Amino acid sequence: MKLSWKGAIVLTAATAIATFLVTALLVNIFERKSEARNPYVLLEQVGEDDTDPAKWGVNWPREYDSYKRTAITTRTRFGGHGGSEALPAEKIERDPWLKRMFLGYAFSIDYRDRRGHAYMLADQEQTERLTKPQSGSCLHCHASVMPLYRTLGNGDAMQGFEESYKFTYKELNQKLHDSGHAHPVSCVDCHTPKTMQLRVTRPGFLVGIRALAESDAPVPHLPSIEQWRQGPRSQPYDPNEDGTRTEMRSFVCGQCHVEYYCATKRPLTFRGGRVSRRRTSRPSGTACGSKTGRGSSITPMRRVGPRSSRRSTRSSSSGARGSMHAATSLAPTVTCPTCVKAPPRSRITGSGARS
Ligand code: HEC
Ligand code: HEC
Ligand code: HEC
Repeated sequence: MKLSWKGAIVLTAATAIATFLVTALLVNIFERKSEARNPYVLLEQVGEDDTDPAKWGVNWPREYDSYKRTAITTRTRFGGHGGSEALPAEKIERDPWLKRMFLGYAFSIDYRDRRGHAYMLADQEQTERLTKPQSGSCLHCHASVMPLYRTLGNGDAMQGFEESYKFTYKELNQKLHDSGHAHPVSCVDCHTPKTMQLRVTRPGFLVGIRALAESDAPVPHLPSIEQWRQGPRSQPYDPNEDGTRTEMRSFVCGQCHVEYYCATKRPLTFRGGRVSRRRTSRPSGTACGSKTGRGSSITPMRRVGPRSSRRSTRSSSSGARGSMHAATSLAPTVTCPTCVKAPPRSRITGSGARS
């Protein structure tokens, strides 16, 4: 076929346009793909050692703003820091029965209303409870402590965590300040820097939830554990891999808002973690943290959907297992609604009460 010069021009133009369109499409696809990989416009690169939330605030100003609002004083009829006082109200003075209940525990010396996350480290540094020997474990829930754990464990945070109770609170707190990570809980504690996926980082939680999964305590509120129990169990339960999105939303808070056993003689232990079989047959609900031997206080959740990608924080199998009952007199416990609100059911009904 013979092409006229006009036809040739048209054909060339058509080819050029088609090429342009196909290229534009490819560029567009490529852009969308990289957007999917980096769903945020990052003005500031953040990584595992960036514990200062202000740096993250450059990329996520709204979230940073709400983070800063934890410094605002709030009060409800259940407590809280409501005024201009330097420190929140002293609970044990307002409610003397609390002081009596905690006699022999450091809580009987100083126990105030809690307040927002912005204060967690400062309040811990000021509490009179530190007049009794306290271990470095206290920092687990009051600071952005993961880089320090990695330093203590030569890169292995779990190992560093297991060393941390051997330091006095003062020693470890000094190390924290020297390391430049003296910040309250920060973005990096709940988010994977690259993707902003939720994750749990706290070793105490990872060990505790795994022990809970391996126990036979009923967990109807944790479907991912029930599912794991039915599976081959070839890998230990890992909330960062197995937890549903809804579970993760509670797990991140459960890294600290949990009953625990914290002493100078062993690593921090979460309720549900390191409970020996022998002890799990005890009646439940007998007392707080250091004296209960069963179950978990992680809040109930509904299931939304499975998660997939494997993320970085790994738990390790090391660490002593034993009973949580070797309580020293200074073992503090934080959130314990059972003992604050009502005596254990067994005491009320008389059945199964402890002698
Ligand atoms: C790293 C440990 C840690 C994590 C993770 C954590 N918290 Fe806290 N939270 C604390 C500490 C410690 C305090 C008490 C601070 C104080 O009194 O100085 C606190 C206080 C609070 C308070 C009381 C605020 C007030 O004004 O009285 C609320 C509510 C709260 N946290 C909710 C949450 C929720 C919801 C999550 C999860 C999204 C969460 N926390 C995750 C450690 C943590
Ligand atoms: C497992 C996590 C965890 C550990 C370990 C922990 N805390 Fe806390 N701490 C919390 C949480 C959560 C709150 C908020 C309590 C509330 O909601 O009533 C809190 C509140 C506080 C407060 C403010 C209110 C008060 O009790 O006067 C102080 C001070 C404090 N902790 C000191 C300590 C000290 C000292 C240690 C070590 C002996 C310690 N914490 C260990 C989680 C922890
Ligand atoms: C105690 C845990 C915790 C801390 C600390 C925390 N976040 Fe979050 N963040 C959450 C939870 C829970 C969600 C809701 C996730 C979901 O929808 O499943 C969330 C959601 C987000 C999202 C939306 C993620 C998405 O899926 O699009 C961004 C962005 C974010 N946070 C930024 C921050 C920044 C910035 C900081 C620090 C200033 C921060 N967060 C600190 C727990 C935390």
